[in-house]
Amino acid sequence: MNEVEISRRIKSEVFGKLIRVYDAVDSTNLRAIELIKGGEEEGTLVIAEEQTAGRGRRGKAWFSEKGKNLLFSLIIKPCINRDSLSLTSLTAALSVAKAVQTLYGLPVECKWPNDVMAGSKKFCGILPETVLREGDHPRISLGIGINVNQKIFPAEIAERTVSLSMLTGKELDRYELLAEVLQHLENNFRRLGEGYKREILDEWIRFSFHFGREVSINVDGQVINGIAEDVAEDGSLIIRSRDEKIKIISGDVSYDTRI
Ligand code: BTN
Repeated sequence: MNEVEISRRIKSEVFGKLIRVYDAVDSTNLRAIELIKGGEEEGTLVIAEEQTAGRGRRGKAWFSEKGKNLLFSLIIKPCINRDSLSLTSLTAALSVAKAVQTLYGLPVECKWPNDVMAGSKKFCGILPETVLREGDHPRISLGIGINVNQKIFPAEIAERTVSLSMLTGKELDRYELLAEVLQHLENNFRRLGEGYKREILDEWIRFSFHFGREVSINVDGQVINGIAEDVAEDGSLIIRSRDEKIKIISGDVSYDTRI
């Protein structure tokens, strides 16, 4: 992967205007956070072929075979307040889902708050990490990992993980996918800044299979069951549990895919 080749393919104006490519790095999120602290502007893309300490949600690791997938962090400064940060994950997941649907016509699903799935298997994980600044919008290292051409996964995640190449039966062009994802990200974050928050959320809901279904949510070890009803304006999930509406700000959702 090289910077010139990536730049040539990018269609977005701001997202990806500066690119830092690494052969191997601990975590692209950590590199992007360092850059943010050093004053880096919105739009810089940090991308790597391999991560030695890839970070997942809730302190988990993110595994990816060298040179097969997309591992990147984009520096963004979305026009949202610090109480609505989960909107960032939903907007990013929607952008990946639209890019994958546009390029490959695959039926993809967004799973709250920040996974993109095909059937019951995950092919994309999103980890936004925020750097707060007094009196200004937060700056975010928006970390995205997409399983593109990897065919074999570690045993502990193999059952619930898939790659786009496994789904399409073809070896895929990672540059083409990156360019498409960046364009959808730029477009959707611009719309968010222009006030089209509800439209973004409704679009995300159309990519999601939770709604009207029984879900179990693990919130720091406590399991809450209920029917998923809506997503609030700040990106939190609204479920109905025993005639009570509960707003979930963070947690891991599971649901029965056979329903
Ligand atoms: C998840 O747990 O689902 C989130 C995974 C996020 C992985 C990506 S890969 C690029 C970026 N750098 C990291 O260290 N993590 C994110």
